[in-house]
Amino acid sequence: MPVKQRLMNYAGEVESFLRGSLKGRCIPPGLLESMEYSLLAGGKRLRPVLCLCFARMLGAESKSVLGFAASFEFIHTYSLIHDDLPAMDDDDLRRGRPSNHKVFGEAMAILAGDGLLTEAFGLMAQSACGLPSDRVVRAIGVLAHAAGAAGMVGGQALDMAYTAKAGVSLEELREMQALKTGALITAACVCGAELAGAGDDQLLRARSYGQSLGAAFQIVDDVLDVVGDEKTLGKPVGSDEEQGKTTYPALIGVDRSMDLARRHVAQAVESLSPFEGEEAQFLRDLAQYMIDRVS
Ligand code: IPE
Ligand code: IPE
Ligand code: MG
Ligand code: MG
Ligand code: MG
Repeated sequence: MPVKQRLMNYAGEVESFLRGSLKGRCIPPGLLESMEYSLLAGGKRLRPVLCLCFARMLGAESKSVLGFAASFEFIHTYSLIHDDLPAMDDDDLRRGRPSNHKVFGEAMAILAGDGLLTEAFGLMAQSACGLPSDRVVRAIGVLAHAAGAAGMVGGQALDMAYTAKAGVSLEELREMQALKTGALITAACVCGAELAGAGDDQLLRARSYGQSLGAAFQIVDDVLDVVGDEKTLGKPVGSDEEQGKTTYPALIGVDRSMDLARRHVAQAVESLSPFEGEEAQFLRDLAQYMIDRVS
């Protein structure tokens, strides 16, 4: 089966969970609508799928980690809602629909993001009912650190600082992308492994795979903003150049960016060398698929 189909199958498990995740909660109707508008708008569900697959590869059952895995999508979706706001990237299209603030207004978009971020931690804590609580507490720590000011939020702050700024170095760009995108992707892999009770070497390999995959993923995202198609991506193309974003294509061009992405993918695949089975093969193919997204 092609990797894209396997990704969609795993994503389907996450999708069903997400659909029921806010049902029956006492959330004011306008806020609930705004949160579900973005959460249930599709998306590749990459981060929860990574969490799920690392956990399964290391012996956990899907149903025990699904809630924790889904919390990554809550946090990722909040980051997208805020990323599109006029004060940030000012983008009007997301996941093939008008961005959250275009439909619900800026105040509700900010609050929908706040709501998703906070609810994510409720979901994670609930996982402690089915898994050893020491593992869950460690995983919550990993995710909080990766999503926070020293992780994704810090990376977004650097992204804003480097917007319309000349002279940003490749090293500064690498660090910014490792934080804004790499941190959450890495945490998804590490938390999946942690929840399955992984040993130190397995955790290191999960981290290494996540870091390399995350780096390739954001380089390709930047390249697709130049050469991609708005309909396929479900978000605007040319937005980075319009905003004066510091990206790999802007600094070294599309071809050298793709060479770099390929090197990261090879490193991601290498990190998984001791692992066998269906999930290990899927994770290797998924890394390669990052490159194939640009065709
Ligand atoms: C977009 O992430 C934001 C980045 C970190 C590059 P995705 O490309 O995973 O977006 P969805 O979830 O599929 O919409
Ligand atoms: C977004 O990077 C990173 C986060 C949301 C944390 P981008 O700004 O490149 O993402 P897109 O291209 O808008 O999806
Ligand atoms: Mg951005
Ligand atoms: Mg953006
Ligand atoms: Mg982008």
